[in-house]
This record gives sequence, C-alpha cells and structure tokens, in this order.
Amino acid sequence: MKPTTRAVHEDRPTAIDLFSGCGGLTLGLKQGGFEVIGAVDNDPLSIETYKANHKDVTVWPTDIRELKPAQIQSTLNLEPGDLDLLAGCSPCQGFSTMRTLNGALRVDDPRNDLLLEVLRFVDALRPKAVMIENVPGLADDESFQVFCGRMENGGYHGDQDVLNAAEYGVPQRRKRLIYIAGLEIKIPFAEPVQDTLTVRDAIGDLPEPGESGDPIHDLPEKRTPRVMQLIQRIPQDGGSRTDLPVQFQLDCHKRCNGFKDVYGRMAWSEVSPTITSGCFNPSKGRFLHPEANRAITMREAALLQGFPGDYKFPKATSKSSLAMMIGNALPPAFIAAHAKVIHDTLKDSGGATNRD
Ligand SMILES: C[S@@+](CC[C@H](N)C(=O)[O-])C[C@H]1O[C@@H](n2cnc3c(N)ncnc32)[C@H](O)[C@@H]1O
Repeated sequence: MKPTTRAVHEDRPTAIDLFSGCGGLTLGLKQGGFEVIGAVDNDPLSIETYKANHKDVTVWPTDIRELKPAQIQSTLNLEPGDLDLLAGCSPCQGFSTMRTLNGALRVDDPRNDLLLEVLRFVDALRPKAVMIENVPGLADDESFQVFCGRMENGGYHGDQDVLNAAEYGVPQRRKRLIYIAGLEIKIPFAEPVQDTLTVRDAIGDLPEPGESGDPIHDLPEKRTPRVMQLIQRIPQDGGSRTDLPVQFQLDCHKRCNGFKDVYGRMAWSEVSPTITSGCFNPSKGRFLHPEANRAITMREAALLQGFPGDYKFPKATSKSSLAMMIGNALPPAFIAAHAKVIHDTLKDSGGATNRD
C-alpha cells in the first residue's frame, strides 16, 4: 500500500527542486501544473522564505553534497522512475560573464561542480524529465559538457537554448540557458508569448515606499548628498548618467567609459534590465525607479521578477540579503511556460503521473 506522501499527489505530475532558493522555480513549476514534493537548499534565509510560501513541500535544509538520494526516496516513498521532473538551478556566480570580465576563471570556481551533484539524483531517481537553468556562460563551462555527456549516456535526450524571460511574460530582460531532457523522449522548449509586460505593468500601481505597510517595500535607503544630487538630475523614464553635462557626473564616471547603465533609470514602457543581487544599489546597474529619486525597492524587484505581490519575504532582514535571494531567483512565469510544455509532452507520451 502506498503511504500518504504518494497518495496526496497522484492526480498531478511530481517535481523536485534542487537549489530551491526563495522558491521562484518552485512557483513556476506549480503554475505549470506540477506538484512540487521536495526541495533542497543550504541558505537559512532562503529556506525561511521558501517555507513561508510553500508549506506543502518537504524541504531538506542542507548542503546538497551531504544529501543522499536515498533519503529523499525513503521520505517521499519514490521508486526509481516515479518522479516526473527533477529541476534545479545551481549557483550561477561561477559561470557569469561579469566574473570573467573581472578576470576570474570560471572553471576554478568550486560552485561550478555543484551542477554535477544533480547527476547523483538523476541516477538514483531516474526522473522522466530534467530541467536545468543557469546563466548563458554555463554553456562554455567544462562541467556542463560533462553533465550533458552523462545525461546522454543515461538515456536522456537533452537540448539547450538561451532564451529571454521577457518573451515569456516576464517584465524583465533576462537571458538564461535552459536545458531540458526527457528520458527516451525529446521535449521541446515553450514558444514565446505574444504580449510583453512592461515596468509600468509590474510596479506602476505601487504606493511610494515609507508607509505602505509592506516591510520589504518600506526599507529605507541612504545615499550621500553628492549621489542624491546625481540621482535627482537623471532624466525621468529611462534617463542615464550619460545624459548629464559632464560637470554633473561623478569623478569616477568621467574616468570610466564603461558600465553606462549604472545610475540609469528604468523606462515605464519597456521591460526592466536583469534584476541581479545588486539591484538595491544604483551603482550596480540601471536600478533607479523611472520617476522617484531612489533605487527600486525589494518589493518592486520581486514584482519585476514576476513574483506575486503577496509573496512573503522575511521582515527583519537587510536589503542586500533580500536582493541576493530575489536576484538569484528564476522568474516563475518563464519556468511555468516550460513546465507546461514538459507536463503536456510527458502526458502525450503516456509517461506522466497525470492522468486527467
Ligand atoms: C541560483 S540560486 C537558486 C534560485 C532558485 N531556484 C529560485 O528560483 O529561487 C542557487 C541556490 O543554491 C543554493 N546553494 C548554494 N550552494 C549550495 C549547496 N552546497 N547545497 C545546497 N544549496 C546550495 C543557494 O543557497 C541558492 O539559493
């Protein structure tokens, strides 16, 4: 007889989220029709956030290198082949273009090896499908070649593409590598959606921060008078520091011709730039509000990632910790589009748990 853990999710295909962070990927999988039954992450703040929003999921708050697939299998009562989708996004920092420009060698970053941890779970669980997301730089990394080769040897038909989340109903330009593999079947990528969402669609209706009652919208920001003067002069709705006469520019900007987006404002009628872990700081990119003389708030960052307005984040924490979680998250709508195609393909092939 099947124990309760299996019985409750017999009507929907199941998924496990490795490196679950604050839950962007999990939310997208749920929106795409999956029941997420397990998640793994080792960051306490991410786990707190994840649990606040996904109470129904069994979470392993641990270093993935210390977690045995057998532990997941026995807790969730999963035999090899039971699981429909294993999905995950290992830390991206080691593969990012930014780090390469700064001179760091991607292949030497120990975080890159975490991708290969996924293979232990693939070997044991034998899921019907596997989805991996990361920055485009992953494609050039040795660990990804090893990963793809091992997947192929294991009977998976995998494919990869670099896609822009903005084409999948996310109000943000965010190019990411997606790898999707099916066990003995090919699974296509989702087609882009027709409508583009803009910055105005995502954050145009929010009250000004301060007394909104939303703790992550109301976190104060401090800037030096010199930086405040600069921000006030940046033209509204898409303006840049390069629009200013030279006497109003910061000395460091006069000396440097690169990073033109820093201290730029977002434009109401466009998608936002990529929301990163530096999105609370206008010196890290185009993170100024289209009109207000401030950086975007953490609620605005979450909305630009496509989290719903009532997604819970810890109240008593710093902007930088929130930005780290939110900037590292996967936009749920982007994942939902691909999850739906995986769901439908598995169902059509007769393989998915879903029999509806
Ligand atoms: C790119 S983020 C994942 C984002 C997440 N999928 C989302 O959509 O919100 C990578 C995650 O890997 C976690 N991580 C890093 N090293 C880990 C390890 N050794 N074991 C488990 N999780 C780890 C980090 O805490 C971070 O939350």
